[in-house]
Amino acid sequence: MERVLIADIGSHVDRDVEIRGWLYNIRSKGKLHFLQLRDGSGRIQGVAEENTVGPAYAEAIRGLKMEASVKVRGRVRRDERAPTGFELTVADVEVVQNPDLDYPIAKKEHGIDFLLENRHLWLRSSRPHAMMRIRDTAIMAFRLFFHEEGFLLIDTPILTGSIGESAGTLFEVPYFDLGTAYLAQTGQLYLEAACAAYGRVYNFGPTFRAEKSKTRRHLTEFWMLEAEVAYADNEDNMRLQERMVSAVVTAVLAGHRDDLAVLERDTTPLEKVTVPFDRQDYGDAVKALQAKGSAIQWGDDLGGEDETVLTKMHERPVFVTNYPKKAKAFYMKENPANPDTVLCSDLLAPEGYGEIIGGSQREDVLEKLLARIREEKLPEESYGWYLDLRKFGSVPHSGYGIGLERTLAWICGVQHIRECIPFPRTISRIYP
Ligand code: 4AD
Ligand code: MG
Repeated sequence: MERVLIADIGSHVDRDVEIRGWLYNIRSKGKLHFLQLRDGSGRIQGVAEENTVGPAYAEAIRGLKMEASVKVRGRVRRDERAPTGFELTVADVEVVQNPDLDYPIAKKEHGIDFLLENRHLWLRSSRPHAMMRIRDTAIMAFRLFFHEEGFLLIDTPILTGSIGESAGTLFEVPYFDLGTAYLAQTGQLYLEAACAAYGRVYNFGPTFRAEKSKTRRHLTEFWMLEAEVAYADNEDNMRLQERMVSAVVTAVLAGHRDDLAVLERDTTPLEKVTVPFDRQDYGDAVKALQAKGSAIQWGDDLGGEDETVLTKMHERPVFVTNYPKKAKAFYMKENPANPDTVLCSDLLAPEGYGEIIGGSQREDVLEKLLARIREEKLPEESYGWYLDLRKFGSVPHSGYGIGLERTLAWICGVQHIRECIPFPRTISRIYP
């Protein structure tokens, strides 16, 4: 008998097949049993009639518990009423393992904490499955975009010796005789070296921040894609970002209407994600927020709440540009038109989601960069190689980093970023 995936069942109508999977539910009506099966590729209902399958199988089926692993053999039938259009008339069931226990995740509503504690099992449910499928497509779309644009993939190190972002969120790792290494908060500094070598480069990998914040936007381990381009200013940088984001949204919309429906995502706002995105100067954003009652003062970074309010004023993602220098990282280029600000932009996702991208033009003048490193009291000796980049063929260059899970939270319309990664890591969770 041919073993098939549920996804391919349509090409086996009226034939006998074997499906290997799990029983996610079972309903019985007298001698009729409805087996809800999933195998990762799809879901299908198997109908077992006791008289047809015989007494031994009938008994086995009656004893099946939720999430039993089973090989089910039977004939594929076309059935217009079935959600997938097909059904399986069961001939026999081979039980691989039948749980002794009741499955902890029932149909009833569970709180997010309970579900996360059982993430290893929760992954089997349709909602996480839809999310993981969209995540897979988003990753492919990002990579395809850069591949087609002629960017070179540069995998930057995870163990690093220089601080890329704020010293306050470093994970330290004992490193042999060399003292302390850090888990990468960003691969940016290394990408800057690679962009002077190859022009246009990107990376995509796990990123670590010892975030003490317990917000719905923060993970301690997340995935970030970063791009870096030589001979590009902050305007070029924003144009690249908006094309990239709209390519990813388009790919998800094209391939995942069903999954978005499982996540109960209203796709109307996503249809509006077309280039160009809106742009708003930081100073104007502060005024707009103050007018809405925010306590923000010129000079402050935008808080999560401010971002939420701001994005609700725009239908599309919005770039907030030229933040105060003191609110941003040491490597951002001073704005010649207003030296208290830097040439940078954060991209805020609409519908209250907030920052998904941080990007900037980089300080390419040796003396200014060195002064900023000293001002921030960063260990100068570990930046020797980074400063070399300003000594040997320094050029204007720009880049950015986009957080995968924040982007997915927005595209999928989910409340919490924790749903967007298979096994989330937060300040209070390292299990499972
Ligand atoms: O704005 P950030 O800190 O920028 C950088 O790391 C730059 N070095 C990137 C670059 O220019 N190459 O982080 C970039 C993005 C944020 O906009 C956010 O989407 C995501 O990374 N991010 C987080 N996502 C989840 N949990 C956290 N704790 C995150 N911190 C940042
Ligand atoms: Mg940022």
